[in-house]
Amino acid sequence: MGTLDGKTGLIFGVANHNSIAWAIAQKLAAEGARLAFTYQGRMEQNVRKLTSANMPDAPVLPCDVQSDEDLDAVFDEVGKTFGGLDILIHSVAYAPTEDLKGRIANVSRAGFTAALDISAYSLIAMSKRAEPLMQQRGGGSIIAMTYLGSERVVPGYNMMGIAKAALETSVRYLAWDLGPQNITVNGISAGPLRTLSARGVGNINAMFDLVEQVAPLRRNIEQSDIGDLAALLCSSQARNLTGEIIHLDAGFHVMGLGTM
Ligand SMILES: NC(=O)c1ccc[n+]([C@@H]2O[C@H](COP(=O)([O-])OP(=O)(O)OC[C@H]3O[C@@H](n4cnc5c(N)ncnc54)[C@H](O)[C@@H]3O)[C@@H](O)[C@H]2O)c1
Repeated sequence: MGTLDGKTGLIFGVANHNSIAWAIAQKLAAEGARLAFTYQGRMEQNVRKLTSANMPDAPVLPCDVQSDEDLDAVFDEVGKTFGGLDILIHSVAYAPTEDLKGRIANVSRAGFTAALDISAYSLIAMSKRAEPLMQQRGGGSIIAMTYLGSERVVPGYNMMGIAKAALETSVRYLAWDLGPQNITVNGISAGPLRTLSARGVGNINAMFDLVEQVAPLRRNIEQSDIGDLAALLCSSQARNLTGEIIHLDAGFHVMGLGTM
């Protein structure tokens, strides 16, 4: 018996086998959830390869989160296939490279708008469409991925930090809006992990060393840690936990000094 037997989930953000979304999907499936996936354009083959080997029946649907038409089609299809939805995973982010590496003072209006649209507004757009499907199931769980760069200055994270601040505030307001439908909305603020997106962030290797030296647990987290926490948040054990940003970073965020 899995903790998510009989539940259905929709996963946004698998790019390859290192993606946080894929780690979450594997754990949710192991706990008994039936899943559907979306992919962004060029990621199609990767996502189909991963799912065909592991979850051959899972729907795999195209979706650029900047497109309302794509989002409508995805939620329409998932509603028909699953007859409702229990779990929504938002593991999507983007900021133009020059706005990650450059000075915040130089961020362009277009770069700012794209980062906020893809990384933060997308959660609102997905939640709005998930709400009626989750109502059909008597409630649901929504999880978004975030990072400490929303609260503190992490040089090299720059524009993405601003977008994550908007995402985290969206988590809290969505928790209030969707709470009456028995839908929880939470964020996982994860420590650094080697993924495709992380390559765009400056100083990523130095970050891993710093976490090992400074975090209370003196180690980095792994993708599977996020899968485990996500499964807990989607289970009935976390039914009264909502509007929360949970730091999953070996305790790194509590430290006031970077080095001793
Ligand atoms: N890797 C880390 O160190 C780390 C730490 C904390 C939080 N996060 C967050 O975790 C989430 C997943 O990132 P990841 O590290 O697994 O990297 P990843 O590259 O595997 O995943 C990012 C995903 O975003 C998708 N995406 C970007 N623009 C899109 C668009 N317009 N439409 C649809 N999809 C789009 C990509 O296709 C990709 O699947 C992101 O929100 C990221 O900010 C990552």
